[in-house]
Amino acid sequence: MAYSALMRVMVEAARKAGRSLARDFGEVQNLQVSMKGPGDYVSQADRKAEEIIYTELARARPGYSFLMEERGVVEGEDAQHRWIVDPLDGTTNFLHGIPLFSISIALERQGQLTAGLVYNPAMDELYTAERGGGAFMNDRRLRVAGRAKLSDSVIGTGIPHLGRGHHGNALIELRNVMGEVSGIRRMGSAALDLAYVAAGRMDGFWENGLSPWDMAAGILLVREAGGFVSDRDGGPGMLDTGGIVAGNEAIHKALLKELKKPAPVR
Ligand code: IPD
Ligand code: CA
Ligand code: CA
Ligand code: CA
Repeated sequence: MAYSALMRVMVEAARKAGRSLARDFGEVQNLQVSMKGPGDYVSQADRKAEEIIYTELARARPGYSFLMEERGVVEGEDAQHRWIVDPLDGTTNFLHGIPLFSISIALERQGQLTAGLVYNPAMDELYTAERGGGAFMNDRRLRVAGRAKLSDSVIGTGIPHLGRGHHGNALIELRNVMGEVSGIRRMGSAALDLAYVAAGRMDGFWENGLSPWDMAAGILLVREAGGFVSDRDGGPGMLDTGGIVAGNEAIHKALLKELKKPAPVR
């Protein structure tokens, strides 16, 4: 695959961090783990991967700013460019030995998403997209699925857990959507969920309470694969509101409608 100079930088950082994650995944029981809040863990593996990505990107593009899950904000001299990084999306899966986790790296230029990468090291699946250039998995061009009816669809989501609010709303949404679709998946990595929508493996995805690093790269992947992504109101405020709905045009629209419905009558 002939990547641009920018994408080569991102791919190199992701592959190097991916090797570190793969090593740690093999010895997951020996990792130091700490709790950030109820049900919210971070491990040495997250921090090591983040350090690798930070070092690689900062060396290749000096002065760019960063928003990273563990390290937070790093202001660079170049405020026009910002990396948005989740070094390990799916920490809970990782710590349980479930090989569904990813690295997510996005670049914003003047507030606009211009490049995105999601990498699942356990399956060696590398999803990349640049604005206007299409989306790819390894060297295969991606296209969102063509199914137009919710009744034919498999839809991904994330549901809140211990320490995460809105359990009641989540149940209402789940009950409304699950009654209309072929299947619901809760994979545990929002970045990977979006990559799967881009790849046409899942027909749609919605989640609430996400952070920018969970979504930024995946949003570009879905759009560049011909899909639609919005916040809960159909607007562009995903990174600000933490709510996201994605799919092809028809599924995106149908999901938005389902999510607005009140609680089903028993
Ligand atoms: C989590 C994953 C998960 C989503 C959570 C996120 P993390 O990210 O994306 O799928 O449901 O809301 O926090 O903490 O494993 O990077
Ligand atoms: Ca986390
Ligand atoms: Ca995450
Ligand atoms: Ca993370």
